[in-house]
Amino acid sequence: MPTIEQIRSALSQVAYPGFTKDIVSFGFVKSIDLEPKPCIVVEITASSDEIATILKNDIDAKMATIGVTDYALHIDQPKAPKETSSKGKNVAPYIKNFIMVSSGKGGVGKSTTTTNLAIALAMQGKKIGVLDADIYGPNIPRMFGIVGAKPEVVANKVKPAHALGCEVMSMGMLMEEGQSLIWRGAMIMKVIQQLLTDIDWGELDALIIDMPPGTGDAQLTLAQSVPVTCGVVVTTPQTVALDDAKRSLDMFEKLNIPVGGIVENMSGFICPESGKEYDIFGKGTAGELAREYKTTVVAQIPIEVDTRKGGDEGKPITYYAPTSQSAKRFLAAAETIWSKIEEINENGGASNDTIQPTVGLDGKTSACSSGGHSHGSEGGCGCH
Ligand SMILES: Nc1ncnc2c1ncn2[C@@H]1O[C@H](COP(=O)(O)OP(=O)(O)O)[C@@H](O)[C@H]1O
Ligand SMILES: [Mg+2]
Repeated sequence: MPTIEQIRSALSQVAYPGFTKDIVSFGFVKSIDLEPKPCIVVEITASSDEIATILKNDIDAKMATIGVTDYALHIDQPKAPKETSSKGKNVAPYIKNFIMVSSGKGGVGKSTTTTNLAIALAMQGKKIGVLDADIYGPNIPRMFGIVGAKPEVVANKVKPAHALGCEVMSMGMLMEEGQSLIWRGAMIMKVIQQLLTDIDWGELDALIIDMPPGTGDAQLTLAQSVPVTCGVVVTTPQTVALDDAKRSLDMFEKLNIPVGGIVENMSGFICPESGKEYDIFGKGTAGELAREYKTTVVAQIPIEVDTRKGGDEGKPITYYAPTSQSAKRFLAAAETIWSKIEEINENGGASNDTIQPTVGLDGKTSACSSGGHSHGSEGGCGCH
């Protein structure tokens, strides 16, 4: 049996992760007992699980060198700082808020909206991450001007790219260019979870997520993995697009996701020569939908050549032409969405408790619990 002094001396050779100074010199070793078996209590200031794991492995290894293998180790750490009032499962606790950008169909400007809103929020001083979860059509790298960027891997975590003031990660950065993948439901769920847990996002005020179009496995998995603070629906003004937008709003309701607002995109056309605004797809039609779902239209973004060009050339209009009409509207939308987020957090935040998967009597895991916040659906979450 080693003495307390021998144990202390072994611990004084364990460096605190990331530092050269050892845990005894730091004063982190709180107590060492020998009876009934060796017991060490260490108290650290970091709340990260990763640091606790590294420390535990290093202490185990040092104890083994003095023949102590059967012993108890308690690492006391502060709880991760409570940065949002959101509740429920959160696999990415260092991200304070999650904004899910959805649309019923593709091509309505979901990626354009994600990109410009993210940049607007970052310009307003928020620390913003952008997750391109549109695994079928990852366009975010092109829109941020980082096509071909290969992410760096540090300590088993993938670093996002830093572009235009945001931390950016896309499936497009993890796949070969032009490659397309065929995804099964289970693979989609796994990849969405990994994009949250295996990316070194750091501490963010918000992660804004460009979802695949529609209402499916990706949306459900994301909502079950993190408490989504608010959903933003992007639609164009035609009736057929509004029908699909309705499905996105229904999905938010069923997944218990507060609605941040609707972006009516391609709402009118600004003539580059005259600066005059023309109506093309209809305008203002999203207003009625907003009223029906007790939310608001946070922006009417016109069709503008520079918006399309900005997307194609990786020069988003909000960053490169912040005084343009479209940029001003994106900046205003970002402010409105942020005040909604603050309001949501003041009122208790989002919770995904009621939509966690449940195991049925047949032993199969159902998509989500039917006991949740469902509006007239026949059980399950009905979001397919
Ligand atoms: N307001 C707009 N004015 C001009 N072009 C736009 C506008 N919104 C989107 N676009 C263009 O339309 C195309 C589809 O938009 P995108 O954001 O990729 O849609 P989604 O992500 O919904 O599929 C892109 O080429 C984009 O640059
Ligand atoms: Mg897109």
